[in-house]
Amino acid sequence: MVRLKGISGRDPKELAVLDMDEHLKDERLKQKYVSTMFDILAPGYDNFTRIFSFGMDRAWKESLIAEGVRRAAPSPRILDLACGTGDLCTALAERTRSPLAFGCDLSEKMLVEATRRASHHRTLPLQFALGNMLTLPVADASFDIVSIGYGIRNTHEPDRALREIARVLRPGGLLLNLDFYRPTNALWRELYLGYMSVSGNAAGWLWHREPVTYGYIASSIRRFLTMPDFEAALTRAGLQVEWRKRHLFGGLGLHVARKVG
Ligand SMILES: C[S@@+](CC[C@H](N)C(=O)[O-])C[C@H]1O[C@@H](n2cnc3c(N)ncnc32)[C@H](O)[C@@H]1O
Repeated sequence: MVRLKGISGRDPKELAVLDMDEHLKDERLKQKYVSTMFDILAPGYDNFTRIFSFGMDRAWKESLIAEGVRRAAPSPRILDLACGTGDLCTALAERTRSPLAFGCDLSEKMLVEATRRASHHRTLPLQFALGNMLTLPVADASFDIVSIGYGIRNTHEPDRALREIARVLRPGGLLLNLDFYRPTNALWRELYLGYMSVSGNAAGWLWHREPVTYGYIASSIRRFLTMPDFEAALTRAGLQVEWRKRHLFGGLGLHVARKVG
């Protein structure tokens, strides 16, 4: 069997030796697990996402961006959390007259990829830095848009992440969020997570010879919120949903939410 070109940023064995269940239960250990994993995935991440989502990732992000930009202030300051290789903040900067599109991520290797991609867009105001979305070294009310693609699910505390987002958004500012959710219907949940688990483990083996590298996706969804739970968390954080789109029967959701006040 040929090993697919994906190719590791760090040795996949570094992840395989960690006990996933133990690490995902604890905040500090989860961050270590997640940053190790995304350092491994970074060089092949864009290709994987395109293939694993059958191209739907691009369409989901396009519709989220279109709905967000339509509602945003004219020259928004943009903060993209868990930015990965920077595709969301690059697309948002392209479609607005933003003076700043700042991407932040826990994984150094993801930021290396983001910086490499940004070198093809020198006219855009892109900047990247290492950072944790739970403790942002950013002043209150300093951004007009916060975007996140598949990010909040990777934190230990979604409520805390949303409070931090609400803090850094100016009143009336927008959160654009895209993520996988735990489906509410029990039968669909098991079918969906079963598929994600089998296909994720297979992809992990093909790309990195370590099933767990992508097997994590199903485990993280199983531990995450349902879409209605996420919307309740948005409300608790002072973010009012203005637009939502459900895909995969509640297994994936897009949200545009506005900071109240
Ligand atoms: C699945 S990738 C998503 C990348 C990109 N946003 C996208 O839409 O394709 C998740 C990213 O979240 C980052 N991440 C996980 N926990 C984080 C945290 N607490 N703070 C900042 N970034 C985090 C990971 O390093 C990884 O790059």
